[in-house]
Amino acid sequence: MRTKIGNVIFNSCIWNASGVWGTTVEEMSRLTDMPPDVCGAVVMKSCTKEPREGNIRPRVFVNNGFHHESLISVGLANRGWDYYIEATKQITDRPIFISEGGLAVGDDLAEFIGKVNDIQRNDILIEFNFSCPNVEGHPQVGYDYSLFQERIDFIRERIQKPWGLKLPPYHDPSQIHTITHSFLIPSVEKGLCFITCCNSMGSGMIVNTIAKKTVIAPNFGVGGIGGYPLKSIALGNVWRFFKILPGEISIIGCGGVSSGVDAMDLILAGASAVEIGTALYDDPRALVKINKTFEDLVMSLSPNNNIDQIRGTLTVEKQIDST
Ligand code: DHB
Repeated sequence: MRTKIGNVIFNSCIWNASGVWGTTVEEMSRLTDMPPDVCGAVVMKSCTKEPREGNIRPRVFVNNGFHHESLISVGLANRGWDYYIEATKQITDRPIFISEGGLAVGDDLAEFIGKVNDIQRNDILIEFNFSCPNVEGHPQVGYDYSLFQERIDFIRERIQKPWGLKLPPYHDPSQIHTITHSFLIPSVEKGLCFITCCNSMGSGMIVNTIAKKTVIAPNFGVGGIGGYPLKSIALGNVWRFFKILPGEISIIGCGGVSSGVDAMDLILAGASAVEIGTALYDDPRALVKINKTFEDLVMSLSPNNNIDQIRGTLTVEKQIDST
């Protein structure tokens, strides 16, 4: 099911979330083994200037039982940005998102932006991660308005590729209003064309009761929650942003999608595309089934098979008289 973000066309509006099957070229080939009308893009792991080992192990817990849930604290383990920029040469049949991890500042951040500007392709999008919850000492930019302002000012004066932000889940409507009016709308004229909404929910924990232990080791067992527990928050965030964002800024919905119905819910709430993390951990080919059921749903909801006619068409339950 085709979609468009900025001027980039995608043959499917569903693809992986950053961090899942996007850390090495070998992993990415598991995504590109599927046609571009199943996996519409490849999102690379959030990267830093130098390669990083990341946090101690175990740092990923995934429960793909009846409900999918995950607790992740990888700590931005990645191969360094030159690796990901080079890897774009090997994926030529679909758009790519290069994800900047949010740690680079000053000359380093300028270097990254210069390098991605030089890539001679117009289907490369840059996702600036404003929401990694797992690097101790680095607060999530998305929650700190002065850091947010500083960083987005720096980026928008330099970036020439289509770009967007990966945002954390917000829990108060005032946050969504401030972010939109202070930072997002003023960046449209500088090429901001999407937000990814949302990243995992930081400060989460899952406990193994019988063993009396946390399930991951880094940061006292605390990390980012993904999967089903995130779905309602992602939906609420997408819907609130959709209501106030200008049409130039597309929303990529992310959080708790494990079926075609979940994907459709995000599209109904206003997303132009959907990313999947937790539900792909065990097998990226879960995308095949999710895509198929999603397409069947689109066919039944839109006579011309077009998600543009469905996007954001959710209606709000009407008030009833309680007497
Ligand atoms: C990691 C987790 C995130 O949610 C993110 O946005 C970036 C990195 C990590 O633990 O590596």
